[in-house]
Amino acid sequence: MTFKKTILCIGAGYVGGPTMALIAYKCPQYKVTVVDIDPKRIAKWNSDNLPIYEPGLDEIVKATRDRNLFFSTEIEREIKESDIIFVSVNTPTKMFGAGSGMAADLQYWEKTARQIRKYAESHKIIVEKSTLPVKTALAMERILSSAENDIHFEVLSNPEFLAEGTAIKDLEDPDRVLIGSRETPSGLKARDELVEIYANWVPRERIITSNVWSSELSKLVANAFLAQRISSINSITALCEKTDANIMEVARAVGMDSRVGSKFLNASVGFGGSCFKKDILNLVYLCRHYGLDEVADYWEGVVRINDYQKERFILNMLSAMFNTLAGKKICLFGFSYKANTGDTRESPAIFIARRLIEEKAELVITDPKALNNAMIDLNGVDGKISYVEDPYKASANCDAIAVMTEWEIYANLDFEKIYKSMAKPAFIFDGRNILDHKRLYEIGFNVFPIGKPALTHF
Ligand code: UDX
Ligand code: ADP
Repeated sequence: MTFKKTILCIGAGYVGGPTMALIAYKCPQYKVTVVDIDPKRIAKWNSDNLPIYEPGLDEIVKATRDRNLFFSTEIEREIKESDIIFVSVNTPTKMFGAGSGMAADLQYWEKTARQIRKYAESHKIIVEKSTLPVKTALAMERILSSAENDIHFEVLSNPEFLAEGTAIKDLEDPDRVLIGSRETPSGLKARDELVEIYANWVPRERIITSNVWSSELSKLVANAFLAQRISSINSITALCEKTDANIMEVARAVGMDSRVGSKFLNASVGFGGSCFKKDILNLVYLCRHYGLDEVADYWEGVVRINDYQKERFILNMLSAMFNTLAGKKICLFGFSYKANTGDTRESPAIFIARRLIEEKAELVITDPKALNNAMIDLNGVDGKISYVEDPYKASANCDAIAVMTEWEIYANLDFEKIYKSMAKPAFIFDGRNILDHKRLYEIGFNVFPIGKPALTHF
C-alpha cells in the first residue's frame, strides 16, 4: 500500500503513543511510525500488553497496528523515510546544575534534534509535541540548520492538551488544536500541512494557529491556570475546616457563576501528574530569567499551596488519631495521581506514603492499576509496606483508610463489611471527597473529608 505521507513520532510515551494511534486511526492515508530508544517499551507497544493503561487505547491500537501504525526502534531509518516528525520525548524537571528543581531538562530534546540533523536526507517538518520552555523551537532550528547541507527544516509547535485517563476522548474531540508556526511562506505552508492532518476529524474552527512562541507559552499557561484552580479551591478547604463551611457547597455556589465555571473545582489531597508541577516551575523559572520576580512568586504560590495541602492532610490524620501514628496500620485507597490511569508520577500518594512511614505507621497500599508503579516509587523506603490488590483484604485489621485516588470502585464498596474487619476506632480520611460521609459515620467510622466538617463519635 502506498501512503500519502509518512509521519514519524520520536518518543513512545504517554503523549506520543496515544496521539499517534489516534492520528493513524483517523487518517488511514498516512503511514504513522512511533520510535523510541527504549526497546522494551517498543516491544510492549507491539504486544497485547501496552505499556500504558488508557481507556479505549487498546481498541484503537488493535485496529491500526501493522495497517498504518508501526512501533519501531529503527530511529535512523525512520527519520530518513519521514515527511513530518513529531518530537515527543520526555522533558522532566532538571535535577542538577543551574535551574535545578525548576527548569526543564532539555538533554533528551537536544539529542533528538541532533539525531534528526544527522540522519535526515530530505526537507522535513518538525513538530514540537513535548511541553517546552518558550523559545525552544529556536534552539531546535539552530541545531537543525547547523548541518552542512541545504536540507530545510520547518519547526512547528503543536502542544498536546490531552489529560490521562481521558486521552482518547480528548484526542478525538479536542476543545482546540493549537499550531504555532513562523509567519514566513515556508512556515505557513508547513502549518497548513499540519492543519490538513487534524482537519480529518477536528472541526476547522477548533484548529487555531498562532506564532510559535505564543503556542509554546500557551501550553505552560493552560496548565498553570488549571493547577491554579485546584490550589485555589484547596486553599479554601483549610478555611472551611476551621469554620464549618462545606467546600462542596462553596465550590457549587462559586462554580455556577458562568464566568468562573464549574469544572476543576474538586477539592483534593493535592494535584499530581507529570505536567502541572513541572510546567509551573518551568514558567516560574522563565519569569525569574526575565527578571519578573513578582510574576514568578505569584505562580510559585500554586505549587506551595499544593505542598501545604499534602502536609495538612498528614497533620489532620495525626491530630485525629490522637497525635501518634506509630505502629498504626493505614490503608491507602489508590496510588495513581488520578483515576483511570496507572501513572503515579508526582502522585500525592507518594508524599503521603513517605510521610506516614516517617511517622512510623505501617502501610497497606491498594490500587486497581498502579501497584507496580507504587512499588517502584517506594522502593528503598525504610518501613513496613505491603501491596494488596483487593481493597477488602487491604483494609482488614487497619486503623484507618486514606483515599488517595478517586477510583469509582471505592465509592461502591461494602463499607459495613470493611468496618467490621478493621481495628477500632476506625477512621476514614477521604482525600477526594468521593465517599458517602454520612453513611460511613452511621456505620461507625470517624470520617474526615477534605474541607467539610469531620463526623466523629467522640
Ligand atoms: C493535565 C492537563 O489537564 C492536560 O490538559 C495537559 O495536557 C496535561 O496535564 P493530567 O495531568 O493528565 O492533565 O490530569 P488532570 O485531569 O489535569 O489532573 C491533574 C491533577 O489534578 C490530578 O492529580 C487530579 O486528581 C487533580 N485534580 C483535578 C484535582 O485535584 N481537582 C480537580 O478538580 C481536577
Ligand atoms: P510523556 O508523558 O511526555 O509522553 P514519557 O516519559 O512517557 O513522556 O515518554 C517519553 C519517551 O521518549 C520515553 O519512552 C523515552 O524513552 C523516549 N525518548 C527519550 N529520548 C529519546 C530519543 N532521543 N529518541 C527516542 N526516544 C526517546
